[in-house]
Amino acid sequence: MFILNANDKTPLYRQLYNQIREQVLSGKLPAHTRLPSVRDLANELSTSRNTVEGAYLELFAEGYIYSRQRSGYFVSALDQLAASVTRSRAPLQQSPSPGPAPTFRYDFHPARLDPSGFPLAQWRSCLLESLRESPGELSHYGSVQGDWELRCNIQQYLERSRGVVCDPERIFICAGLQHGLDLVAHLLRDGHSTVAVENPGYHLPRAVFQNNGFRIVPVPVGAGGMDLDALRGGDSSIAYVTPSHQMPMGQVMPIANRLKLIEWAQSGGNLIIEDDYDSELRYHGKPIPSLQGLRPDADIIYLGTFSKILSPALRLSYLVLPNSLLGGFNALYRDFFPTVSLLEQKAMAKFMAHGYWERHIRRMRTLYQKKHDIMLKAIDRHFGNSANVIGAGAGLHMVLQLGESVCGEGAIISRAAANGMYLFPFSATCADGVPDTTRLMLGFGGMAVADIEAGIRLLAETCLKVDESCPQEQGQK
Ligand SMILES: Cc1ncc(COP(=O)(O)O)c(C=O)c1O
Repeated sequence: MFILNANDKTPLYRQLYNQIREQVLSGKLPAHTRLPSVRDLANELSTSRNTVEGAYLELFAEGYIYSRQRSGYFVSALDQLAASVTRSRAPLQQSPSPGPAPTFRYDFHPARLDPSGFPLAQWRSCLLESLRESPGELSHYGSVQGDWELRCNIQQYLERSRGVVCDPERIFICAGLQHGLDLVAHLLRDGHSTVAVENPGYHLPRAVFQNNGFRIVPVPVGAGGMDLDALRGGDSSIAYVTPSHQMPMGQVMPIANRLKLIEWAQSGGNLIIEDDYDSELRYHGKPIPSLQGLRPDADIIYLGTFSKILSPALRLSYLVLPNSLLGGFNALYRDFFPTVSLLEQKAMAKFMAHGYWERHIRRMRTLYQKKHDIMLKAIDRHFGNSANVIGAGAGLHMVLQLGESVCGEGAIISRAAANGMYLFPFSATCADGVPDTTRLMLGFGGMAVADIEAGIRLLAETCLKVDESCPQEQGQK
């Protein structure tokens, strides 16, 4: 007995197909049962012959029924066990989505970019141009080292604006800093075992080196960047540094220290990893040239990214290897495929070739400088003498050093969250996870210009309201 429902959106032939199929699979219609003729079933269901014929033909095509000449259709002999397993499988349910990440009225995350800053029209035209020009290239993997044109454009850009001296053979396109560092760490772990990192410093490289079996030696950061006496006094043979804009404190390593650091690298098999992540964003004075450019023949691995100006979601970055590592690197990764989409690489190459990249840098620098200046003024207005700003003048964040009597970081972060503000913990940048004093990282990149003043006002109210429920953090030094 089959029932067709004319009000159902499923076509009638499909309803019939589903019902017969169900009965075949459940064994209700046993193997070799003869199905009613097309005409009889059409009459019985008061439907057209086409409907029945459509259902039968589909069942026949899929093997649920077979036909005998002039005798009609019969149910196929199916492996009932397999059939019932197939049948009894619960309809696939889409796994529940993890849900939207909590959103905050004021997001002070230091790595957010302006939500409407992405150059959509230009990027789209570069993507389309790449598709039009090189559809054939999409049929193979491409070079592990990255698209040649992109590497050439990066080389020219680095030479012009960062003083980096290299040729495109020394450039490798990567999917972000951690990917680049991971490639490097694999290569270096035979000859090195200990990495010096800035403390406080960018937290993510520590994980990469630890995963590769390195010992991490945190080296204090002072006004001149990494403490070079401490570095020389230790046993690290690799130093990971952010000399042009120390992350998170913002210092620029002075030239004397740069030269000393290079001297350290040259004095016996040591190596510098220079992370030049946001050097485009300097709001006063000239950009600080790279360390690599001072001694292009020294053992310096230079890392750059498109995450700070263009988009962190594209996962596009690059590393420049010293000549001494080139052979080993190529040998190690000869049989690897690239990890960055060729299409995206080509679009980036076009974006640079058309001059969009440098224009975009200028536009973003102006935008972020505006946000930076508004934030500085707002801090002055609402925190007054209760806090000092550290590391202003560059990048996408500044650090706020709060006075002695104020709450600890954890309490401020949770109070801020309760008031609709996101704060990235400064303690994450400390090697032992414990800051000396209460410091807040205040990113302004993702904040709307119009929100900065109100966000800082609310933050000041939150931080400066000292009461019993806000004790000094446990473990704070
Ligand atoms: C010090 C530092 N280096 C590099 C990056 C960028 O990394 P990626 O290229 O993986 O986006 C960041 C991002 O916040 C950073 O703070």
